[in-house]
Amino acid sequence: IPVDSFDLVIFGGTGDLARRKILPGLFRRYCAGQVPPEAKIIGAARSEMSVEEFREMVRASIEEFGSTPHEPGQLSSFLERVHYEAVDATGDDGWEALKSHLRDDTIRAFYFSVGPSLFGAIAERLRDKGLADAESRIVVEKPFGHDLASAKSLNATLAQHFDETQIYRIDHYLGKETVQNLMAVRFGNMLFEPLWNSQYVDHIQITVAETVGVGGRGSYYDKSGAMRDMVQNHLMQLLCLIAMEPPAKFDPDAVRDEKLKVIRALDPVEPHHMVRGQYAAGGDEEGYRVHVENEKSRTESFVAMRVNISNWRWAGTPFYLRTGKRLRARTSEIAVVFKDAPHSIFGADAGRHRNVLSIRLQPNEGMTLDVTIKEPGPGGMRLVDVPLDMTFADALGPDTEAVPDAYERLIMDVIRGNQTLFMRGDEVEAAWAWTDPIIEGWEARGDVPKPYDPGGPGPEDSLMLLHRDGRRWREIKA
Ligand code: BG6
Repeated sequence: IPVDSFDLVIFGGTGDLARRKILPGLFRRYCAGQVPPEAKIIGAARSEMSVEEFREMVRASIEEFGSTPHEPGQLSSFLERVHYEAVDATGDDGWEALKSHLRDDTIRAFYFSVGPSLFGAIAERLRDKGLADAESRIVVEKPFGHDLASAKSLNATLAQHFDETQIYRIDHYLGKETVQNLMAVRFGNMLFEPLWNSQYVDHIQITVAETVGVGGRGSYYDKSGAMRDMVQNHLMQLLCLIAMEPPAKFDPDAVRDEKLKVIRALDPVEPHHMVRGQYAAGGDEEGYRVHVENEKSRTESFVAMRVNISNWRWAGTPFYLRTGKRLRARTSEIAVVFKDAPHSIFGADAGRHRNVLSIRLQPNEGMTLDVTIKEPGPGGMRLVDVPLDMTFADALGPDTEAVPDAYERLIMDVIRGNQTLFMRGDEVEAAWAWTDPIIEGWEARGDVPKPYDPGGPGPEDSLMLLHRDGRRWREIKA
């Protein structure tokens, strides 16, 4: 869908997220013909820098973090759309100059690619200094708060200056291709939805595994841990989309109302239904505590839990969530494991066979459905499970290479004014309201995460979490 012309201001325009994701993403959309020729992209940050220097930085970022096949000269013509202003987020300097870039009758979007402590100051100045109008949008990054109280106060601060319809809270997992496909598969087919409940689904697994450690982000990460960094937002969003009732329409409030109902129906998690882990040293790399420079750290780099949703659809079907750093492979998958057929007409020898719908977010985005068939050949009625494979790249051909990455898609949605894939304020608060007691419980009990070896599936106790219920995790593999 084409987008109208826009002026996009990126606060934190020289920062890591802007260089890795936002600017290369905008360039890819430009090459795809989605950035109108007169659109402007204006970097804003504290440091004094000439526009030439900023453009040079943007060029280098695009070259390093994700260029795309393009015509000669396309990068230069993209860079002509790029501008820069030094702005003091908490003071008065630079705002007039920034305002002079903005055109009337053009969509204005302000991307807050800065820490949450600056959200209030920037929002206030955008209003007071007349940069934002009733049509303007602001985009805010995670972490959206640290707990319920801080999220509420952020929401209240933003609400003083902007209407909820103008606030785009990013969870980049919602921009991933497969995540949206999940909704297409659930609600575009007759095949799945009638079975999508506790009568037919034995359990659901959500795994987001990473091979990287906490890298250079130790000081942020050690105050967050996997629960705040991944579960409260990304895994929660996946859980909501899997578990929600069919919205009446694919529109922002219809979808977000349904997600909110799921979060509100989550039971508190029992301590024995959770496992925390922290990666030990392995290979040539140091362990977590060295990475975060805190030898007594009790922060988890891995968490696994069994979550129950108390509603008619899901009572009795557990959702198992796990996420961690330094695991065997980088892979994100949702697996819907169906119940056994009520009776096997083939006898005990036929073994146990189950339908599993596996939804892969990365890598090799796609879905497979394991179905049971007869093993071909004369050997009698021997059953095997074979995958019906819907790997998007195979099924849809080379065009899928042009699939935009999560950030590109979400930025274009901001310009289109479509909030469906962004979190509403009440949703974020509900997610924190569920998360807070879990973390408080760990703190009150002095819980120490279990060390685990890098390159594996996480701590042993996480395997036990499912074994106890007569189930097992799916393998973490690339
Ligand atoms: C971020 C987390 O939100 O998501 C990181 O802060 C994590 O810790 C990242 O590595 C994972 O995103 P992706 O898209 O690489 O799966």
